[in-house]
Amino acid sequence: MPTILEEYTAKHPGSAQRYAEAATIFPGGVTHDTRYATPFPLYMTHGSGPRKWDADGNEYIDYVSGHGALLLGHSHPEIADAVSRQILRGTHLGGSTEEEIRWAKAITALVPSVEKVRFHSSGTEATLMAMRLARAYTGKAKIIKLQDHFHGWHDYAMAGSDQGAPGIPEASWGSMIVVPSGDLSAVEDVLSRDPDVAGLILEPTGAHYGQLPYDTPNYLKGLRSLTTHHGVVLIFDEVVTGFRASPGGAQAKYGVSPDLTTMAKIVAGALPGGAVGGKADIVDMIAHRGDPEWDNSRRVYHPGTFNANPLSAVAGATCLEMIATRPVNETADAMAAQLKRGLNDLFGKMEVAGHAHGIASMVHVVLADCDCDRELCIMPHSRIKETTASAKVTAMKRGLQNNGVDIMGRDAFLVSATHTESDIDTTLDAFEKTLITMRAEGLA
Ligand SMILES: Cc1ncc(COP(=O)(O)O)c(C=O)c1O
Repeated sequence: MPTILEEYTAKHPGSAQRYAEAATIFPGGVTHDTRYATPFPLYMTHGSGPRKWDADGNEYIDYVSGHGALLLGHSHPEIADAVSRQILRGTHLGGSTEEEIRWAKAITALVPSVEKVRFHSSGTEATLMAMRLARAYTGKAKIIKLQDHFHGWHDYAMAGSDQGAPGIPEASWGSMIVVPSGDLSAVEDVLSRDPDVAGLILEPTGAHYGQLPYDTPNYLKGLRSLTTHHGVVLIFDEVVTGFRASPGGAQAKYGVSPDLTTMAKIVAGALPGGAVGGKADIVDMIAHRGDPEWDNSRRVYHPGTFNANPLSAVAGATCLEMIATRPVNETADAMAAQLKRGLNDLFGKMEVAGHAHGIASMVHVVLADCDCDRELCIMPHSRIKETTASAKVTAMKRGLQNNGVDIMGRDAFLVSATHTESDIDTTLDAFEKTLITMRAEGLA
């Protein structure tokens, strides 16, 4: 029997060949850090619904799901149609459009805390703007961020990540206060000592859309009351959880209303796009005002060539209108529940240490036992992180790819409303085969 790595190499000669060329053009041979893989990453050619195909013609059930953007699967016919029609009408009209109004209304209809909204081109831009708005609104400098929570790659967002910091000035990080995730008393301690805190940003279901969860509803409620008490802007980064944790995001699922929300991915119908929305008086820091009483030097400046570009606008509006009127989330959540059950049964049946947890259509696998409720895992974050970084997980990811399943990062299945029961069964078969090959190599 070939090893997992031998099989990977044998099955993907076309990807190996393309990577050899890419390595001469791109740093590390790739165009996104998480696409880096040894001995080479896979090159994809096209996708449809829950499936995609690579350069060697291998078919995959896809759980990368456009890094979470594809709640409606690849090339959803209605989104494809809307975008195709818009391309023929113009991709940048150099002015305001009706489509951006339709898009914004689709957001406010689903997310009640969003009174006003501003569009961007990515989630990174959205979190950068949210932090700037919080600072401008309060006149204070610092932002609290939670350890391991991901908000993109701009200078402030990188504070408290495991990545290095070359190229980031000390001064940027000096304005960030990183506290342990899930620990209310740590936040309370900072707020009672430091009067210069403008905002607090977090992924509301825990770092990496719930890979590292906490006692979510109580923690979010606690943060809401602490930030209100101290006059600090509470920012939910719903770039992944927005429209996925529920149609109204994690905030609707848990009944906690932030001051600002950052969105990307699903919000733009899986085209490039982002948004910051929230309380009108905060978002209005961007507004031009005719008011002579208003000190215009306080205004937050915000250009951006592709803000609310018409292609993303029609894709986003079409996607969000479907989420509002059809059982999109119910379907994706039901498929994810079936997958999670099946994975947990498999770990039990095969007596392999591991479990799957997660909320809504976000499923995380940890190769270690835990008796959590399978929604909010209670293992220490350090243990989950250590397990996910192990060679076993590299083998699991490659083994799944050998067996026709592609997962997000190293541990996650992001399920779409186009995955079917039969796709889930096929996925579970692939997982079982993967565990068997891992066992043969002494990795399970
Ligand atoms: C929670 C969260 N915030 C922000 C971002 C950054 O978004 P983008 O990649 O569109 O810049 C991401 C990206 O995955 C994310 O997961």
